[in-house]
Amino acid sequence: MSVKDKVVVITGASSGIGEATARQLAKDGAKLLLIARHEEVLKQIQSDFADGQIMTAAVDVTDFDGLKDAIKQANDQFGRIDVLFNNAGIMPLSPLSAGKRDDWQRTVNVNIMGVLNGIDAVLPYMHQQGSGHILATSSTAGHKVFPTFAVYSGTKFAVRAIMDGLRQEEAANHIKSTVITPGTVTTNLYKTIPGKEAQAAEASLHDNPNRSLRADDVALQVVRAIDTPANVSISEVNIRPIEQEA
Ligand SMILES: NC(=O)c1ccc[n+]([C@@H]2O[C@H](COP(=O)([O-])OP(=O)(O)OC[C@H]3O[C@@H](n4cnc5c(N)ncnc54)[C@H](OP(=O)(O)O)[C@@H]3O)[C@@H](O)[C@H]2O)c1
Repeated sequence: MSVKDKVVVITGASSGIGEATARQLAKDGAKLLLIARHEEVLKQIQSDFADGQIMTAAVDVTDFDGLKDAIKQANDQFGRIDVLFNNAGIMPLSPLSAGKRDDWQRTVNVNIMGVLNGIDAVLPYMHQQGSGHILATSSTAGHKVFPTFAVYSGTKFAVRAIMDGLRQEEAANHIKSTVITPGTVTTNLYKTIPGKEAQAAEASLHDNPNRSLRADDVALQVVRAIDTPANVSISEVNIRPIEQEA
């Protein structure tokens, strides 16, 4: 099966990498369930494509019951769940000494528990089908830590560990696991960094295409990882702007 007619669930589909992937997959004829907390952009994407091709759900990925329910509705409507792209994430960077415990908790809840909730919600369908594919967005910060990135990086290291565990546990069930580890990408993510100075530093990086990817650059690689023959599993996609060293 190519991407056409595959049923794909995307979390964090209202912006950046998730939105770009949704639009690319929709163009290629996939059937989609788009998930984010704010539904307006999801509705906009839906209205740009054929009637019945795209479902939307305003769900927080930390709400397991909400996620499970939305995925059940997609399975009822489309008849299967082929792919989950676990992509929702936040990045409220700060030094550990700032003691932003609420931000730490939120980052762990969204970036780690959100991914686990997604896996838990789709695995029963994939087991029943005897096939499936789960992808998750980690980061180059899931390979290397920088000052102020400790908690965010911790969650992204965890995503790599979870996805590698998933790969090994589900290989015999023909459920593929792919972790995407992008470097800097120009999206709204940097706007979640507290502090005007930090945001301005990030924004200047995002003005230079050699130092910051476009969301479409990442989306193309996500689609390629999905569009593989049944016996081929791409475990990790590591993608950086040309001038990014770390
Ligand atoms: N941009 C980069 O430089 C970069 C680099 C490496 C990895 N990443 C990772 O890429 C992923 C996508 O980020 P992006 O750069 O595309 O950022 P973005 O433009 O800010 O998009 C983040 C998406 O996640 C959704 N989201 C956030 N919290 C959520 C929650 N609790 N429940 C459901 N959806 C939630 C947002 O929608 P709502 O606000 O509507 O919920 C939005 O659709 C993240 O996991 C991020 O860590 C980004």
